[in-house]
Amino acid sequence: MAYTKDQTGKEIFDLVRADLARVEEELSQQSVSNVRPITEIGQYLQFSGGKRVRPALVLLAAKCCGYEGPSAIRLGAVMELIHTATLIHDDVIDEAETRRGRASTNSRWGNPTCVLAGDWLYMQAFNIALAERNFRILDILIGLTQDMVEGELLQLNQLKQIGLSEDDYLELAYRKTACLFSACLRLGALLGGKREEIEIQLASYGANLGLAFQVIDDLLDFTSSQETLGKPIGSDLREGKITLPLIYLLPKCQPEEARKIACVLEEGGFYSVQFDEVLELIDRYSILQAARAKAQHFAELAERSLTGIPGSPYKDALRSLTELIADREY
Ligand code: IPE
Ligand code: IPE
Ligand code: MG
Ligand code: MG
Repeated sequence: MAYTKDQTGKEIFDLVRADLARVEEELSQQSVSNVRPITEIGQYLQFSGGKRVRPALVLLAAKCCGYEGPSAIRLGAVMELIHTATLIHDDVIDEAETRRGRASTNSRWGNPTCVLAGDWLYMQAFNIALAERNFRILDILIGLTQDMVEGELLQLNQLKQIGLSEDDYLELAYRKTACLFSACLRLGALLGGKREEIEIQLASYGANLGLAFQVIDDLLDFTSSQETLGKPIGSDLREGKITLPLIYLLPKCQPEEARKIACVLEEGGFYSVQFDEVLELIDRYSILQAARAKAQHFAELAERSLTGIPGSPYKDALRSLTELIADREY
C-alpha cells in the first residue's frame, strides 16, 4: 500500500483505539491484589492519565506484522505495567512530589510501600508474560528490566557530574526509555512471526524513537509548564541530572555562566541562582534549537529503520509517529 498523508496523533490512536480499550481492561484485572495498597496504587496510576505510548507501540508493531489477537493485548498491558513500576521506583529515587498532575505515589503512600508495590507490579507483568509460554518473550523482558535498573544505577553515579559527555547521556537515555520502546516493537514483531530481519528493523525503529522521546522529555523540562507535563519543570537540574540541553550549553557559555549551573547542582535547587537565569542562558546560546535538531536526527533514523517493512496503514502510522514525537509539546 502506498504511503498516505501524515497522520495526526488522533488518527494513529484511532487505528488501535479498540485494542487499547482492551489493554485497559487487562490492566484493571491485573492490578488487583488481596493486599490493599497494591491495588490502590495500581488503580491510582491507571486512572491518572498516562499517554499509553508503549501499549500503542506493541499493538502497531503486531498489526504491522500481520498479527491480531489476545497476545498483543496482553503484551501491551505487560509493557504498561513495567513502565508503571519504573515510574513508581523512579519517583522514589528522585523524591518526586508530582506525577501526571497529581501527588506522586511516593508522596502519598511513602517510600517503603511504593518500593514493594513497584516490585509487585514488575512481577505481575512477568506473570502475564509467562502465560504466553514463550522463552523469547521472557528473554526480552528480563534483559530489558536489567538494562533499565542498571540505567537508574548509572544515573545515580552520574548525578551532578558537570563533565558528563553526550555519549554518557545517550547511554542513559537508551536505558531509561529507548530500550523499553525498542522491546515494545520487538514483541509486536515477534507475535507476527516475521523474519528476524523485520524484528531487528522494528527494534531499531523503537530504539531511535525512544531516544527522540527522551531528548524531547529533557528539553520540555526547560521549556514547558507543570500544567502541561503534570510534573514540575526544572526538575532534572534540581535533581542533579545533566541532560542534553546542559551538555550543549556548558562548553559554549562563559566560565561565570557555567558557575551558575554548578551552583544549582551544589545547592540542589534554585536558591542563589534562579531557574529563569538558567533559561536565559539556554536561550542566549540557542540550545533548544540544537537539542530539537538532535531529536529530529533520531526521528529520521527511526523513519529510515522502516525502509524494509512491508507497506500498510500501520507502517504509515509508525512513520508519522516519528514526526509527532520529535515535535511533541507534552
Ligand atoms: C515518562 O514517560 C518517563 C519518560 C520516559 C520520560 P511518559 O511521558 O510516556 O509517561 P506517561 O505514561 O505518559 O505518564
Ligand atoms: C524517566 O526518568 C525514565 C524512567 C522512569 C525509567 P526521569 O526521572 O528522567 O523521568 P521523569 O522526568 O521523572 O518522568
Ligand atoms: Mg524522575
Ligand atoms: Mg525527565
